[in-house]
Amino acid sequence: MRLKFTVNGRAQEADDVWEGESLLHVLRERLGLPGSKNACEQGECGSCTVYLDEVPVCSCLVAAGQAEGRSVRTVEGLAEDDRLDPVQEEFVAAGAVQCGFCTPGLLVQTHDLLERVAEPSDAEIREALAGNLCRCTGYEKIMDAVRAAARRRARA
Ligand code: FES
Ligand code: FES
Repeated sequence: MRLKFTVNGRAQEADDVWEGESLLHVLRERLGLPGSKNACEQGECGSCTVYLDEVPVCSCLVAAGQAEGRSVRTVEGLAEDDRLDPVQEEFVAAGAVQCGFCTPGLLVQTHDLLERVAEPSDAEIREALAGNLCRCTGYEKIMDAVRAAARRRARA
């Protein structure tokens, strides 16, 4: 089937999408957007998180056909005019990126959290990021990055 949808604000098409093909596969392999990672392909790790109509989803669990006519925003789409989003900058500054496999999903999920909750408590941060697994950092630097991003948004 031919899939037509919007990705990071641009109209996109993908031909010959097979039944059961995931949104993650279309983004990475057909549209050349490798930011969203494929770590488990089972909805367990959150590395593939993207916005689908402004709601974070695990794109490995979404059939590509479900995105027909809808809007997707990936980690690449968080930056504007080649400027990183403050959430992205604070992850780098805090040293919350090691191997980086979990990072795209954490960035999208954190971005969503801070859109909804301006000054989240630690408990709210942990709850929001509970579906995003990181095997490297021990999470403390991720917490530091999220707190710093929240403070920065509050100042802006
Ligand atoms: S790759 Fe989708 S949840 Fe792990
Ligand atoms: S930085 Fe490696 S899994 Fe999180």
